[in-house]
Amino acid sequence: MVSWRSLLVAFAVEANGLELNPLAEPGHEDFFGGRPVERVREISPSDFDERVRLGKPFVIEDAGQSLDLVGTSCQQFHERFPSAKMRAEYTGSRNEEFVSLGSKAWFQKDRPQQERLKPKSKDLQNVARANAPYVWHVKDGGHEAPPGVRAAVQKAWQPPYFVRGAVNLREANESAEFWFHRRNGAVLAHADTYCIPAVSLQITGKKRWRLMPHPQVQFSRLAPDSHDGGIYRANWRPFWEITVHEGEALVFFPNLFHETHVPEENLECTVATTFQIQLPVPARYLRAYLPTFAMSHLYYEGHCLDLWHPYATLRPPQAVQATTDEAAIEEEHSSLLAAIDKDANGSISYDEMEAFLAAQRDPASPGRRFSSAWPRWFYTEDYFYDWRPATSEVVREMEAEMLEARIQDTMAYLDCCPRDGLVSANELLAALRQWHVVHHRLDVTDQLRSGGQKRKVQMVEKQFVERLLAYASTIYQDVLFGFTAG
Ligand SMILES: *[C@@H]1O[C@H](CO)[C@@H](O)[C@H](O)[C@H]1NC(C)=O
Ligand SMILES: *[C@@H]1O[C@H](CO)[C@@H](O)[C@H](O)[C@H]1NC(C)=O
Repeated sequence: MVSWRSLLVAFAVEANGLELNPLAEPGHEDFFGGRPVERVREISPSDFDERVRLGKPFVIEDAGQSLDLVGTSCQQFHERFPSAKMRAEYTGSRNEEFVSLGSKAWFQKDRPQQERLKPKSKDLQNVARANAPYVWHVKDGGHEAPPGVRAAVQKAWQPPYFVRGAVNLREANESAEFWFHRRNGAVLAHADTYCIPAVSLQITGKKRWRLMPHPQVQFSRLAPDSHDGGIYRANWRPFWEITVHEGEALVFFPNLFHETHVPEENLECTVATTFQIQLPVPARYLRAYLPTFAMSHLYYEGHCLDLWHPYATLRPPQAVQATTDEAAIEEEHSSLLAAIDKDANGSISYDEMEAFLAAQRDPASPGRRFSSAWPRWFYTEDYFYDWRPATSEVVREMEAEMLEARIQDTMAYLDCCPRDGLVSANELLAALRQWHVVHHRLDVTDQLRSGGQKRKVQMVEKQFVERLLAYASTIYQDVLFGFTAG
């Protein structure tokens, strides 16, 4: 039987490279442009941003340069923060178990996982028999990091050189957590609910990562369980494999399933820190795989939507009602184009996008800190924890950074085929149509889902695929190009 996915991929692009079928997605090989995880050094701001916007994981080999933290052992964490508590993972019980950093067993004794993972393949035996890790969520405060401890950790925190700008420095500082693994430890494959890029910096020892993009799905029942080990029961096929050494950092993205294993030939106990950055976002990856992401846990559990909607809609997060009415979509397209494409030549330049985004004001909430509307759309606890900028200088600095990134991210999201630095009228229409169809499908099925009507959900999802296939087959040739990493 021909799979829906392969048909959709085959019909993905029109001869000029612009994908018009709103549910079509590029294949992973095409989009990411090959397997190897690239390793870079002395990464420049523009190279960093470009790689993040694509959304393919990469390693920064010299991430730890001039960071005192690199080389800090488990024992040193134990001596320095004896009053903190961390979470013991994979205890097998339903209650969370906390262990004091002040105790010694965690770094001196093995503690096998209590998960009942039945390895189907030889490949999984390593992780199934591995030691369970400990994670210290400094960011959560509470008994994991009482105020004094949290302040001490944040004070000692030094940013890696590629974390730039007030927004990213704040996010990274605020979001740091530490992972402690004894030799032969593992974290089972999972996808986090982050909506923004994450960085894992290896502080001591080395760790092997296996990663896989979220499987491409057009039916929500086929979306894998994103929790630890869930995907082993379904379709775990690692796409990338990479060993990250002491002082190196892996940059990875929302909805990438990942598993880590600390090999036997290693220090007795290894440490890594994970933190996030806000700017830029993997815009090209979000655009390419939006139909799948809307079926994923990020939509059901996550809070990414407010952040993501406006790349396509160019309106405040809740301002646009999804529809499949082609006339309505085209009308919206025309009015957006009229507002943004000031010289009316049919394509949107960086300057035009800047003028459009910078000018937006939000009359409904006057007197807020940020002067333009759209930074406020995201000015929530999700986005900034409980931290708020103290001075108007910091506000202005952050607003400028967010505006710059928002323009670039929006351009990268829309400018797909070909990538020429301009957003054509057709590119805008394709992104809008994708957004509408994907979210209309979600709106319709959401009601059925909350009513527990699984079969109806599936029927509706099938209708979407069939209708679009019929539509596509009249227009498209099965040519595949454009929309790739190249
Ligand atoms: C990290 O945050 C803490 C607490 O807000 C602050 O004292 C420290 O200066 C910050 N460090 C950097 C490098 O931004
Ligand atoms: C439209 O105008 C922009 C400047 O606003 C320019 O960069 C672009 O090349 C023009 N596009 C076409 C198709 O003429």
